[in-house]
Amino acid sequence: MWFFGSKGASGFSSRSTAEEVTHGVDGTGLTAIVTGASSGIGVETARVLALRGVHVVMAVRNTGAGAKVKEDIVKQVPGAKVDVMELELSSMESVRKFASEYKSAGLPLNLLINNAGIMACPFMLSKDNIELQFATNHLGHFLLTKLLLDTMKNTSRESKREGRIVNVSSEAHRYSYPEGVRFDKINDESSYSSIRAYGQSKLCNVLHANELAKQLKEPL
Ligand SMILES: NC(=O)c1ccc[n+]([C@@H]2O[C@H](COP(=O)([O-])OP(=O)(O)OC[C@H]3O[C@@H](n4cnc5c(N)ncnc54)[C@H](OP(=O)(O)O)[C@@H]3O)[C@@H](O)[C@H]2O)c1
Repeated sequence: MWFFGSKGASGFSSRSTAEEVTHGVDGTGLTAIVTGASSGIGVETARVLALRGVHVVMAVRNTGAGAKVKEDIVKQVPGAKVDVMELELSSMESVRKFASEYKSAGLPLNLLINNAGIMACPFMLSKDNIELQFATNHLGHFLLTKLLLDTMKNTSRESKREGRIVNVSSEAHRYSYPEGVRFDKINDESSYSSIRAYGQSKLCNVLHANELAKQLKEPL
C-alpha cells in the first residue's frame, strides 16, 4: 500500500499496528518461525505473535541479539513461548542445517514468516558465491520454505488448520532491473545497482509467494 494511511480491502492501512491487526485473535496452539527476528519488523512480529499465544521460533543469524530480544519479549509478555535458533540465510548450508534441526526437534509449523532482509548494500558475494541481496532476501527463504513445506503440510493435516507462508516484500519490487529478474546476470558486478538488486530480490519474494499460492491452492 503506497499511500500512507489509506485503508485497503482488509480495513487496515500501513498505519495499522500489529496489535490492531491481531486484536481478538487467539494464537494458542500455533507455532511460527519468524526470520530476522533480531531487529525491526521481525522483533515486533515476534512480540505480537507471542502476545497472541503463538509459540514463536526466532530464526536469527546473531543468536546473542536474538536472546536479548527473547528476554525483552518474555518480560513484556509473561508466559510467552519463544525460542531462538541460528539461521544465516545467505548460506544454503546454514538454511539446510536450520531446517534439519527444526525437523529433528519435532516441532509443528503453522506460520512461516520470511521477513529477514538486507537493503541496497554494495556488491558482495555470499559464502556460496551468489550476489548477497539475491542470496539473502530470496534464495535463502526459497530454500527454507521448500525444506519446511512437508512439516507445514503435516501440521495442517493434523491440526485441520490452514498454514500461512508470508514473504515480506517491498514496494521496491517495482524497481528491479528493466529486464525483471536477471537470472543470467545475478553476479554481474559491472552493471550492479544496489537499489535495483534490492528491487530484484523483493520482486522474487512476490513471484515466489504468487507461485506458492497457486501450487498450494488445493486443500490437502
Ligand atoms: N523498514 C522498511 O521500511 C521496509 C519497507 C519495505 C520492506 N521492508 C522489508 O521488511 C523486512 C524487514 O526489514 P526491517 O526494516 O525490519 O530491517 P532490519 O531492522 O534491518 O532487520 C532485518 C533483519 O534481517 C536479518 N538478516 C539480515 N541478513 C540476514 C541473513 N543473512 N541471515 C539471517 N538474517 C538476516 C537481520 O539480522 P541482524 O540483526 O543480525 O542484522 C535483522 O534481524 C525486510 O525483508 C525488508 O526488505 C522493510
